[in-house]
Amino acid sequence: MNVFAEDPRFSGIRPFEKKILLSSPTMHGDEQQWVDEAIRTNWVSTVGENINAVERQIAARIGVKYGVALSCGTAALHLATRLAGEKLYGQARPHQGTLQGRRVFCSDMTFSASVNPVAYEDGEAVFIDTEPGTWNMSPEALAKAFERYPDVRLIVAAHLYGTPGAMEEIRTIADEHGALIVEDAAESLGAKYRLNGRWAETGTLGDYNCISFNGNKIITGSAGGMFVTNRLEDANKVRKWSTQSREAAPWYQHEEIGYNYRMSNIIAGIVRGQLPYLDEHIAQKKAIYERYKAGLSDLPVKMNPFDAEKSQPNFWLSCMSIDEDAMAPQVRGEQDYRYKSASGKSSPQEILDVLAAFNAEGRPIWKPMHLQPLYRNNAFITASGTGCLAGSGSDVGADIFRRGLCLPSENKMTPEEQEIIIQLIHRCFE
Ligand SMILES: Cc1ncc(COP(=O)(O)O)c(C=O)c1O
Repeated sequence: MNVFAEDPRFSGIRPFEKKILLSSPTMHGDEQQWVDEAIRTNWVSTVGENINAVERQIAARIGVKYGVALSCGTAALHLATRLAGEKLYGQARPHQGTLQGRRVFCSDMTFSASVNPVAYEDGEAVFIDTEPGTWNMSPEALAKAFERYPDVRLIVAAHLYGTPGAMEEIRTIADEHGALIVEDAAESLGAKYRLNGRWAETGTLGDYNCISFNGNKIITGSAGGMFVTNRLEDANKVRKWSTQSREAAPWYQHEEIGYNYRMSNIIAGIVRGQLPYLDEHIAQKKAIYERYKAGLSDLPVKMNPFDAEKSQPNFWLSCMSIDEDAMAPQVRGEQDYRYKSASGKSSPQEILDVLAAFNAEGRPIWKPMHLQPLYRNNAFITASGTGCLAGSGSDVGADIFRRGLCLPSENKMTPEEQEIIIQLIHRCFE
């Protein structure tokens, strides 16, 4: 039953006939051509011209020498993390990850796939709190973390929702401590960041860089990911590991652990067809962000922020957060929630329920890693240098999770449909 149908706040608004999604694939026709070509020529495998083309084209687009096409962004992150582990600490012993007994500083407000590879490699993630200005890793908290754990040599930094993090500051701190950076640009393909006065694309800012072509990303292969680098030896190593670590012998010969992480030539055909539309998708997502910003400007809410001087996001997801004094009561358990309506106020869960009732898909902000049951015992460092109890006030990530939500950011949504979503949000605050 739609409880909001009877609610006078929403009178006159009808549910969307076709669901407005958070972010879904947008096909253009070229994808079919490259998939058909692969099938016609029988390159239905993890080798083929689509893979070669996608590796060349992505590398050229973001400005690196080499791309290694993989089955998903998570695979790219795993091999990037493993490569960093090997570089720092040497080749792992049998049955041990490369990060055995080592701490790694990780973005806290990110998707779990950024940080799980640290655990795959037997390392221990230490979560670094978020800065309010970009919703990404706080350089201040990172500096504090090095005070507490000076022996750490690896940082995993993500660009949430397509907004670049403060990579110049993070790089400076990393260099001071001789640390390497794994860059998770899964959500931010096409976003730019001004590093030392020059614009660079995300995916070029770490020592080991990863992107994703997951179905919800700015361009997609239905799945897929890529490791991107300027170092030939790293590209070769990742290519070898991703194809079961076969040595150059006539038979299956193995000196290292391998993985079956290579991209399929069919998937690569879809990515190849999507690539010419990356800038078009970014422009559509930017227009969505700007329409929300204008349409919500009279409400006690803020859009997800970015550093306008130093970054050009790809605007993959538009998000908002509710000002503290306009927050209606809301509590969340591990898997459930409760809220109350209040005059002139609202809460993320109320807005998400209203959107769902009218057939539109939003989502809570990615729940920070230090609040996840899986990682709750890991250390968490805030800008004041303390690990702290969730929600105690100085925990920026918990605060954004509590007051924020992801808005429908579908690039096929029309301005008229978006206007209805903006209206629904207004009515929540009546
Ligand atoms: C920040 C982030 N990192 C990593 C991933 C993993 O990428 P994939 O789904 O391609 O494995 C995703 C999304 O799925 C992501 O949003």
